Amino acid sequence: MSAGVGKSGSRSGAAHGGAPPIEARGLVKRYGDLTAVDGVDLTVAPGDVYGYLGPNGAGKTTSLRMLLGLIRPTEGSVRLFGRDPLADGAAALDGVAGFVEEPRFYPYLSALKNLEMLAAYDGDGAKDRIGEALDTVELTARRRDRVGGYSHGMKQRLGIAAALLRRPRLLLLDEPATGLDPAGMRDMRALVKRLAGEGMTVMLSSHLLGEVEELCNRVAIVRSGRVIYEDQLADLLASARGEYRLETTDDSRARGLAAAQPGVSDVVIENGTIRLAAEEPAVAALSVALGAAGVGIRALVPHTATLEELFFRLTEGEEGAADPPPTLAPAEAPSREAPARVPEPVGRRA
Ligand SMILES: Nc1ncnc2c1ncn2[C@@H]1O[C@H](COP(=O)(O)OP(=O)(O)O)[C@@H](O)[C@H]1O
Ligand SMILES: [Mg+2]
Repeated sequence: MSAGVGKSGSRSGAAHGGAPPIEARGLVKRYGDLTAVDGVDLTVAPGDVYGYLGPNGAGKTTSLRMLLGLIRPTEGSVRLFGRDPLADGAAALDGVAGFVEEPRFYPYLSALKNLEMLAAYDGDGAKDRIGEALDTVELTARRRDRVGGYSHGMKQRLGIAAALLRRPRLLLLDEPATGLDPAGMRDMRALVKRLAGEGMTVMLSSHLLGEVEELCNRVAIVRSGRVIYEDQLADLLASARGEYRLETTDDSRARGLAAAQPGVSDVVIENGTIRLAAEEPAVAALSVALGAAGVGIRALVPHTATLEELFFRLTEGEEGAADPPPTLAPAEAPSREAPARVPEPVGRRA
């Protein structure tokens, strides 16, 4: 199975104490004419819950495979805590665990037996951590059942339990909640939050914008193998603030007044609502101006673009429609509201 990449050794990490958990520079992976990953730079800092967000086919799994040393980059380099997973082999994966796509287990053996086999391979006291790992992923009660009878969500959780045997400081997860039912998704997210809360650095890929918004502090948005945005999630969302929706008793006059108001811009009427961008003081001044002009305000509300809206805005237009739109689970359906103002600057700041 792929959770058990490498063999654990000393966990001190003293030799590379200052190096970030992940540092990838200029990562490229080509398959014939297809460039699956096209010059990705990433730095994941200790304690980050880093979301690698993009639609299907964007190159997420391929990127994670390179990070885990499972495939060789066509170009570029990877360092995990300062070590190269290809050159340094198993030592580079000291303190690192994770799996791409699905974890694999012997289906006719119990979860416990599978973990015992992996622990025997991992060594370093891994056997003593089986009980705790099963507890963490809430599979203790089912530990003697054959994995073949497990649901997809249980298998994913068992994959994380297998990773935990290695006592990782860095956990890489490839779409951990994809394909799970709503309860499974909720449990998986709670588990990731719990691990992150214990100080584990996590990098997870996802095509679910809401999931990244819920779990991650940093995000890289990837499309067609390229990172089109990388920053603190909070900064990305902050860049989407400053838009307001205005409803009045006389929209055409209100629109003129808004357009004339210093500090107000991008005034448009849309579906019976006026959209505008403004700083807070200008919004207050506008409300006074509207009142003075005898225009009644029915609503004047700030609007923050959701990550969904930002994602579509960041990916729209570039390179035409080469990609299918991101697949969204029903619970993650994008807001039906109109897209908000384009955040600036848009682009990678790595
Ligand atoms: N082993 C491979 N051989 C050829 N093409 C591949 C291989 N692995 C991935 N690809 C292609 O690379 C692109 C990115 O795939 P992948 O990394 O799986 O995307 P994601 O995980 O974001 O859905 C896709 O077009 C996929 O078909
Ligand atoms: Mg994938």
